[in-house]
Amino acid sequence: MNDIMNTKLLTKSITFMQALALVVGMIIGSGIFLKPGIVLNNAGTPWMSILAWGVGGIITLASALSVAEIAAAIPKSGGLYTYLSELYGGVFGYLLGWVQAVISYPASVAALAIAFATYSGYFLPLNHWQQKLLAVGILAFILLMNVIATRFGGIIQTVATVGKLIPVAGIVGVGLFSDLAPGFGGISPAAGGAGFGAAVLGTLWAYDGWISVTNMAGEIKNPAKTLPKVISIGVIFVIGVYVLFNIAVFKALPYDQIISSQTPGADAAEALFGSGGGAFITAGIIVSVLGALNGYLMTAARVPQAMGEKRQIPFSRVLSSIHPKFQTPANALIFQSVLAVIYIFSGTFNTLTDLLVFVLWIFFTMGVFGVFILRKKMPPQKGRYRVPLYPFTPILGVAGGVYILASTIMSDPLRSLVGIGITLAGLPIYYVMIRKNRV
Ligand code: ARG
Repeated sequence: MNDIMNTKLLTKSITFMQALALVVGMIIGSGIFLKPGIVLNNAGTPWMSILAWGVGGIITLASALSVAEIAAAIPKSGGLYTYLSELYGGVFGYLLGWVQAVISYPASVAALAIAFATYSGYFLPLNHWQQKLLAVGILAFILLMNVIATRFGGIIQTVATVGKLIPVAGIVGVGLFSDLAPGFGGISPAAGGAGFGAAVLGTLWAYDGWISVTNMAGEIKNPAKTLPKVISIGVIFVIGVYVLFNIAVFKALPYDQIISSQTPGADAAEALFGSGGGAFITAGIIVSVLGALNGYLMTAARVPQAMGEKRQIPFSRVLSSIHPKFQTPANALIFQSVLAVIYIFSGTFNTLTDLLVFVLWIFFTMGVFGVFILRKKMPPQKGRYRVPLYPFTPILGVAGGVYILASTIMSDPLRSLVGIGITLAGLPIYYVMIRKNRV
């Protein structure tokens, strides 16, 4: 997938601070602004909800610290795809690429487009279908920009990265020091919540994205040292921000409003800043979501494009072709967008993000477990980063992953089956393509 980057001559140009910004920028997107309500509803009480954000963060951190050891030992581009291929065998890397191309990236893009439309509802009230149409419309716009020039995508990305820190800092800063505390008072545990496991699952969408930095290992200065540092600092920073953000929301809004609101982030901003400030912060949130949408569509297209170049998927030639005039992977971009439109019409934000988290965590959990394989295959060397508290940290990461997978299978067997089914559908394709290409 991202070994497309290996085919070009890479320059080691990404510095420590840029890599750190990449980690934080890829994680913070839509989740923190949209998930507080559903997490609270599933967790039952505000304190349990904050605990769920903490537990989701710790599972993420344990996994990230472990994968960082692999990243330090195998400092090549391609990220998890490369690690799974080298530690478990090529077919596992292939399945990850397949799942990313057909579920994870297009479903992410779909969820982010829905998030954009949901937050736009703050300015112009929309019904269900109008919201879906707006989601498709914004996706079409971002697609067009990325087809015309990668440069436009890059500009959107930079503006959005700055834009997203404004609402976060605003709500956290003012929220923590306000003395209102409506959400914390008068708690009646919600009936109908799906429980603590589902609450943690909800937070994992918001925490996902840190691994993207490992795709770029080949372009980072001194990756074996830099990656473990930026991953741990970045994830710890985001955990702090998310926990504080939730405390601020609970202080700003009454319990029932957080649960029933489609846009808890915007409502908290309005309660804290009045309607003018609310509009300003909401605009910042929309920019943040737009940036994530753009970033994920851009990255998404690179997966089928690279797999097509290696003739690993059906319609390889079409999918990997570069637009003659614009020099962009236009067909791969269109392919990802068509899948995303199907997802936009078939699911809501929360069902899409849960499906995606489930499927991705199958591979994350394998990645975390990979530390044990790594230590056998490539015993630790002096001076190379090692995961702290081995074997406790990777065990915690694997246990967290198994817990997430098991609780999803139990609470939503159908969705899990769909996810596992699509994943395994990659297997026959892999063998057919291998036969065809004699690779
Ligand atoms: N953390 C991001 C957000 O809150 C979403 C990450 C999506 N992850 C992915 N692998 N596509 O918006």
